[in-house]
Amino acid sequence: MCLATTLGPLTLKNPLILCSGVLDMTRKSMEHLPEAGGVVTKSVGREERLGYGNPSVVEMEHGLLNAMGLPNPGVDAYVEEMRGHAIEVLIGSVFGEDQASFVQAAVKMATVAHALELNMSCPHAGSYGAGVPTQAISSLVSAVKKEVKVPVFVKLGAENIRERAEAAVAGGADGLVAINTVRAMAIDVETGQPILANRIGGYSGPAIKPIGVRCVYELAQDHSLPVIGVGGATTARDVLEYVMAGSSAVQMGSALHYGGKTAFRRICDDLRSWLREHHIKSITEVIGRALPNNNL
Ligand SMILES: Cc1cc2nc3c(=O)[nH]c(=O)nc-3n(C[C@H](O)[C@H](O)[C@H](O)COP(=O)(O)O)c2cc1C
Repeated sequence: MCLATTLGPLTLKNPLILCSGVLDMTRKSMEHLPEAGGVVTKSVGREERLGYGNPSVVEMEHGLLNAMGLPNPGVDAYVEEMRGHAIEVLIGSVFGEDQASFVQAAVKMATVAHALELNMSCPHAGSYGAGVPTQAISSLVSAVKKEVKVPVFVKLGAENIRERAEAAVAGGADGLVAINTVRAMAIDVETGQPILANRIGGYSGPAIKPIGVRCVYELAQDHSLPVIGVGGATTARDVLEYVMAGSSAVQMGSALHYGGKTAFRRICDDLRSWLREHHIKSITEVIGRALPNNNL
């Protein structure tokens, strides 16, 4: 039973990718997941950022609410940390406040990564992330594409995703990643105050999975380039849902938060069992199975 999949020129031994922001601040923490088909780095900017104060993460009923504020050591320090890494497929996530800072971070990250992920979707970082205007996306992506040789994926949030994906594809994106956390908040009714220091954050985990699956399903109909689903997948069945919606690979953070470091191995075993039970030789045979007019 074959779990290998491709993202353009990249071949992954299985479709499970560690998403950005979870266990990926250091080279060691990323190398400790040898069963991952790929690993995305923490989003890194041109300069160091401290991020927001605490509380920055709150455990909720059906997921995590976070407003870390994109803390990172800056791309130079991060690239030094990653130099000589042993990760089979490393996707470098970068963000910026404008085109120049995006391009500079991307160029440096491309020296250690096999592909880039442009984070245009952090829902709580002002002009960074989701604050990148839709009309700026196309020229931003093409500016990065001109400067790097590795594939460039664009990570989008659920809001206006079809329109923003159009812009990313027009700029020459090699793949689309959907979705980031969903803009959300929680209030402590005793103090009458928002719980997060930043007040508003992003919600991840099982509760957002149906939103992510819907977004992937729409993007896979609109575009023929690879789509990578992310959001709330914690089991093999969740991964299959994303794959059937049109994902070529699935990123996961919650799966590790709830299931520990062995989660990826367990999910791979369960995927192989499912394929065997259904007499399917390769996971790639089910990519897009749920799309309308699919003849599989
Ligand atoms: C604590 C935390 C930090 C995150 N940091 C980033 C980040 O730096 N860049 C990014 O693109 N996404 C970031 N994310 C979003 C995840 O990559 C992912 O899109 C989201 O958590 C949904 O997937 P999940 O439910 O499997 O965790 C972060 C998520 C969490 C929980």
